[in-house]
Amino acid sequence: MDNVKKINDILVNLFNVVLKLEEKAIQGSTRRDLSITELHTLAAVGEGKTKTMSQVAASLKINVSTLTAAINKLVKKGYVERFRIPEDRRIVKIRLTDEGAAAVREHEAFHTAMISEAISQIPEDQVGKFIESIDNINEYLLMRKHPPARDPGPFTLKPIKLGKILVPVPIFQGALSIGLSMSTLAAAVAKEGGVGIIAASKIGFREPDYSSDPLTANKRILTREVRRARELVKDCENRGPIGVNVMWSSRHLQDYVETAAAAGAEVIICGAGVPTNLPRCCKDKKIALVPIVSSKRAANIIIRNWAKKYNRTPDGFIFQGPLAGGYLGVKEFQMEAAAEDFYKNIADIKGELEALDNCPLIVCGGIYGREDAEKAYAYGADGFQMGTRFVTTRECDACEEFKNAYLNCREKDVTIITSPEGFPGRVIESPYVKRTGEDPRCITKGLINAAMGDLENGLVFCGSKVYKADKIESVADIFQEFTR
Ligand SMILES: Cc1cc2nc3c(=O)[nH]c(=O)nc-3n(C[C@H](O)[C@H](O)[C@H](O)COP(=O)(O)O)c2cc1C
Repeated sequence: MDNVKKINDILVNLFNVVLKLEEKAIQGSTRRDLSITELHTLAAVGEGKTKTMSQVAASLKINVSTLTAAINKLVKKGYVERFRIPEDRRIVKIRLTDEGAAAVREHEAFHTAMISEAISQIPEDQVGKFIESIDNINEYLLMRKHPPARDPGPFTLKPIKLGKILVPVPIFQGALSIGLSMSTLAAAVAKEGGVGIIAASKIGFREPDYSSDPLTANKRILTREVRRARELVKDCENRGPIGVNVMWSSRHLQDYVETAAAAGAEVIICGAGVPTNLPRCCKDKKIALVPIVSSKRAANIIIRNWAKKYNRTPDGFIFQGPLAGGYLGVKEFQMEAAAEDFYKNIADIKGELEALDNCPLIVCGGIYGREDAEKAYAYGADGFQMGTRFVTTRECDACEEFKNAYLNCREKDVTIITSPEGFPGRVIESPYVKRTGEDPRCITKGLINAAMGDLENGLVFCGSKVYKADKIESVADIFQEFTR
């Protein structure tokens, strides 16, 4: 009980002290006309960004009319300005003025200094453990907000079926684009009973004809890799299937799905959008179709569309939370809310899928160790997909430089960039990210450079738990951890 009281006192005290320090910092600065709430509103608008009122309201979790009153005051004080966008004069957006941006910078500098000083009180070799502990408390409190509806019993990974296809161990290896998850990794995962996934996106990037005819190069390499993976697992007992991940946003979706199916892919996984027409690209019902979604709403749209147009039910769903690697399905301003509602969303989607005949729910985004999976399992996950964890395996098709970038990455080295379509992607901070900033034209080039091992000029995609990678392990080690 002593410890309980002690921790409670520390948490309450910490909360109050930080608030007081913030107040004091404002009083001592040239921004005495701003309240803490106003500073947080300015931070939600963000430096160098233009936002709509509803975006800012969503990230602050307040309604638009409350925000309007706050923004009116900030406009009067000269920290925010409203403007109309030239393409559509009806749309009003807001942005920080130079004063507003300076206030946000000062406030951020205050937080950075406060936390750096606080952390310097802890011996350096214990900082990692400390972060893990408070992160656990944070996660736990988030889970408390939406407790699981029922007790799922002890954590066990039971076999699932994706349509007609048996998956003995419901662990999916996430697609790793640009040649990082090819046949070697996918086959190693399928041998352990999981779903080995080859990423179709830019898979032919090393081919001499890639720059002149990327579609042909991609299709050729996709065919080679799927065939090779099937060959590698053909004599394995109790194996899992080989799948291919395609992007809904790709102009050549149909080509890639047909190529994957013809080469022997047993599962098609489709992300980067809401694949309402995927069954049109693959009529063979022996091949399982599994969409990736970021919300219950997207899952509902797919279920309704497929039933109406194709008389087909998805063979499973992958729910991707905002801690995932690669591009995310929520906008940057929605990420915080999506993180808070992660467990609630698992339970909500599972609730929807229970009405279907057999439609397992696979959860991904921040699942790194068994303890992460256990939490998601309590909310109804039938299986798990991991991307980041599989990068630092011996079998992963990434080059040594790419794997080393993961091993050397600390939590604070991870940052967010924005895709040409406006979706956030998580990357390891690098000179290239600093140089090219948010220029979407440089993203693809940077991703290809990193895949080739040129990290000076590269962008390394990663999930938020990348800092946990501290060794190269085998795919079998990972399966052992989850199935022991
Ligand atoms: C390097 C890298 C490349 C990725 N490429 C793709 C991709 O091509 N298509 C896709 O749907 N997801 C892609 N992802 C997302 C993963 O498949 C997986 O869903 C995600 O990494 C899960 O989150 P985790 O990294 O926290 O485990 C990528 C992730 C990483 C780290």
